Amino acid sequence: MTQTTTFNRQIQLASRPVGAPTPANFHLATSSVPSAEPGQVLLRTVFLSLDPYMRGRMSDAASYAASVAIGATMVGATVCRVETSQHAGFVAGDWVLAYTGWQDYAVSDGTGLTKLDPVLSRPSYALGVLGMPGFTAYMGLLDIGAPKAGETVVVAAATGAVGSVVGQIAKLKGCRVVGIAGGARKCAAAVEELGFDACVDHHSPALATLLAAACPAGIDVYFENVGGKVFDAVLPLLNTSARVPVCGLIANYNATQLPEGPDRSALLMRTLLTKRIRMQGFIIFDDYGHRYPEFARDMGQWLTQGKIKFREDIVDGLENAPQAFIGMLEGKNFGKLIVRVAKD
Ligand SMILES: NC(=O)c1ccc[n+]([C@@H]2O[C@H](COP(=O)([O-])OP(=O)(O)OC[C@H]3O[C@@H](n4cnc5c(N)ncnc54)[C@H](OP(=O)(O)O)[C@@H]3O)[C@@H](O)[C@H]2O)c1
Repeated sequence: MTQTTTFNRQIQLASRPVGAPTPANFHLATSSVPSAEPGQVLLRTVFLSLDPYMRGRMSDAASYAASVAIGATMVGATVCRVETSQHAGFVAGDWVLAYTGWQDYAVSDGTGLTKLDPVLSRPSYALGVLGMPGFTAYMGLLDIGAPKAGETVVVAAATGAVGSVVGQIAKLKGCRVVGIAGGARKCAAAVEELGFDACVDHHSPALATLLAAACPAGIDVYFENVGGKVFDAVLPLLNTSARVPVCGLIANYNATQLPEGPDRSALLMRTLLTKRIRMQGFIIFDDYGHRYPEFARDMGQWLTQGKIKFREDIVDGLENAPQAFIGMLEGKNFGKLIVRVAKD
């Protein structure tokens, strides 16, 4: 069933996943379209962003943000059209960035809505390169990574929403950039389309050797998106005074327990100590929300000048969101994963 003007489809959390999510963890519910009261707008979802952090929201483990309750609609950022308005600040037809989740329609009193430029060539960019993932790449790399020209920057999930932008900004800053990505097709795109100096396939059993060969002068900045065996390959190559912005650990998101094997925390601590490495986690809007304008200015210019390229992986149909999300956690997306909930 596609988007209609009669029904509101909502994808709800049916149960909490144990390990990797499955389609059974989601439930497609249908209700009538809500109507806007005075002071409110009715929003119609056109694009829905699918992001790795949503795996954390499906869990009830303590985290920096609240879990989605069982039976509640999955949360998520959206780009919507204002369908009807009884709010002085909006008119029907406005594009807005919202946080209305995995559903066709939502009513809002305007809180948290950002009006988008009506002539924006790609409104979906507000969910990607001009939105949260692009902002994450920009602040994590420039503020924590602090790359200097000539240094070697390594980034994992290199063709994804965050990683692709990290690598391109590092190139703009004059660095040698090495990506780590899943498969030959993604690695070729990192070099040929995004302009990275090299890219290594993390599925290769020779990952550590290939990464060492791609980083003959060691690693000065490692932008951590993944963790797991990718971090194991990076750790011995980190230079003295290296910086490690810890952005995400997607390799562990479906884990139900700590990895087996010897406790390697002593190895990590010794490396941090002897090489005086700075490793810092960050949560983008909590830590850097006040710096969004400087990002928007720089990224807007880079895009206009053709200095940053951005690939979107667009999946049609709200009903396909669960499978697309499950696939993202397996590396099936190629670029920023977005659901086109309806044609505009
Ligand atoms: N701290 C923050 O505020 C913040 C904000 C946004 C995002 N993040 C984090 O940034 C990271 C990237 O997010 P994104 O939105 O840009 O996603 P993305 O890179 O567009 O998509 C996720 C990618 O992760 C890789 N991946 C998945 N499982 C993996 C595994 N087991 N081992 C290695 N790679 C794996 C896959 O790429 P390959 O096929 O190339 O492996 C997959 O395509 C995530 O960890 C996310 O949680 C953090």
